[in-house]
Amino acid sequence: MSTDPEPTQDDADASDLNEFGRLFQQFLREVVNKAHDRDASLSRRLEKELGCDPNSLPIVSRSYPSFELPNIQLALDAIQEEVGRFTVVGVAGIGRLYRDFAELLSDPDYRVGPVDYRSVPIGGGRDLTCLAGALAIIPWGEARTPMVLWLRGGDPDDPGHPANLEVAGPHREDAEAFFQRLETLMSERNVFRGRVVSINSHAFSQGVGPLRFHEPREVDRDQVILPEGLLERIERQVSGIAEQRDFLRAHHQHLKRGVLLFGPPGTGKTHVINYLLGRLPEFTVVLVSGTAVDKIAQACDIARKLHPALVIVEDVDLIAEDRGARGGSHPLLLQLLNELDGIENDVDVAFILTTNQIEVLERALAARPGRVDLAVEVPLPDRAGRRRLFRLYAGGLGLDEDVLDRFADRCEGVTASFAKEATRRATLIAGVRGSERVEERDFRQSLDELLSQRDDLTRRLLGARMTDDYPTDERKPGNYI
Ligand SMILES: Nc1ncnc2c1ncn2[C@@H]1O[C@H](COP(=O)(O)OP(=O)(O)OP(=O)(O)O)[C@@H](O)[C@H]1O
Ligand SMILES: [Mg+2]
Repeated sequence: MSTDPEPTQDDADASDLNEFGRLFQQFLREVVNKAHDRDASLSRRLEKELGCDPNSLPIVSRSYPSFELPNIQLALDAIQEEVGRFTVVGVAGIGRLYRDFAELLSDPDYRVGPVDYRSVPIGGGRDLTCLAGALAIIPWGEARTPMVLWLRGGDPDDPGHPANLEVAGPHREDAEAFFQRLETLMSERNVFRGRVVSINSHAFSQGVGPLRFHEPREVDRDQVILPEGLLERIERQVSGIAEQRDFLRAHHQHLKRGVLLFGPPGTGKTHVINYLLGRLPEFTVVLVSGTAVDKIAQACDIARKLHPALVIVEDVDLIAEDRGARGGSHPLLLQLLNELDGIENDVDVAFILTTNQIEVLERALAARPGRVDLAVEVPLPDRAGRRRLFRLYAGGLGLDEDVLDRFADRCEGVTASFAKEATRRATLIAGVRGSERVEERDFRQSLDELLSQRDDLTRRLLGARMTDDYPTDERKPGNYI
């Protein structure tokens, strides 16, 4: 038996009111949707711009690595200078950047909305604002026939999600011509051309996806202390060939070259490279570090497109040691050597590889001759070298050159970087002592510390030979000068 009271007149009025409210809301929703439809339907908007049904147009699409986004933007800017301004339309709707053009048009959830932009570093501390999710109406050809471009910037940190451009227009050939022009301009205005960039496996710092810009450290020739004739050999192979590029081409000689610098840590392999960069100002330089070995193909691709170019693979032994997930013999090193092979002979591309474990590489390189045309050992400095290094790094301290020479003579077996560290430590000791200037005794103490058994590890890290190389009595602190 129901216990509900009988409905009263008031209850009936309230229910009418509720019903009225519901209908009124529905009415408002429909009015808003109608207006929305008229303004925000992508198909309708594009139809208005194109003068035809966008669903009926053939589509040509191309993908580019996401780090090309600033080059795409600069190329689009240049095309606008040529053909007139584009009308740019944004898209609203969840997942729009994962939808291709046809999907956008067929799904009414996608509507006209705000344009997606992305600010991308382009070197020299500058950023470029790029379209990263937008439709652009492009007046193309003599007749300025409108075509529509759906541009998505991709994910710079995900190589599986590249930048994607689709062009829909009445004539497929026009869309193809557009891409041809775009790619020419992308190459001409390329933000990486003539710059030093490194390519990394993952991207958490500032850059364009896996690429980072670098300002190379300037190194003068007289700051590079190497055995007589060694720097000249490297220079002749790297910058010398670039200087004689036209002559060599005219005589059908190949320009592509590979140089391997090997030797103990701290002997100046990277230092030499920094010096060479200053001699190759117009070169595009791509640095591949040990952790980014999977990016070798990308680095080579950049070099191929933006030559003259230099690809630097530091610690190449790391890729030689990588045997891949399924074992096999050095797949990454083989890939590098294949890439070296795949570059046309007449493009000015140089490779510099460095290692301090030549034995890891030797067999693999010897098995594939012709990829590396110069292998140079960058050795520990000899007596004369050490004297020059001590004068270079400690020369500014105001100590007598004879004194420095004597210090240098005591440090047999140390690396070039040792002289630098010894000087810094001497300066620190003088500073702690409260002295205005570094004196002979500071320098002596610095060497004593660095060469002592106590600092054996430091010394080894700085590249000096093991203590056994020194006569026992000389190992005692204070015995070095
Ligand atoms: N031959 C050299 N002449 C002058 N300075 C040098 C020389 N070698 C090294 N140095 C100094 O020591 C620093 C470290 O050397 P560098 O990084 O070039 O060594 P490396 O051979 O590349 O070592 P690694 O094998 O560990 O990479 C240089 O930045 C430079 O200041
Ligand atoms: Mg190095």
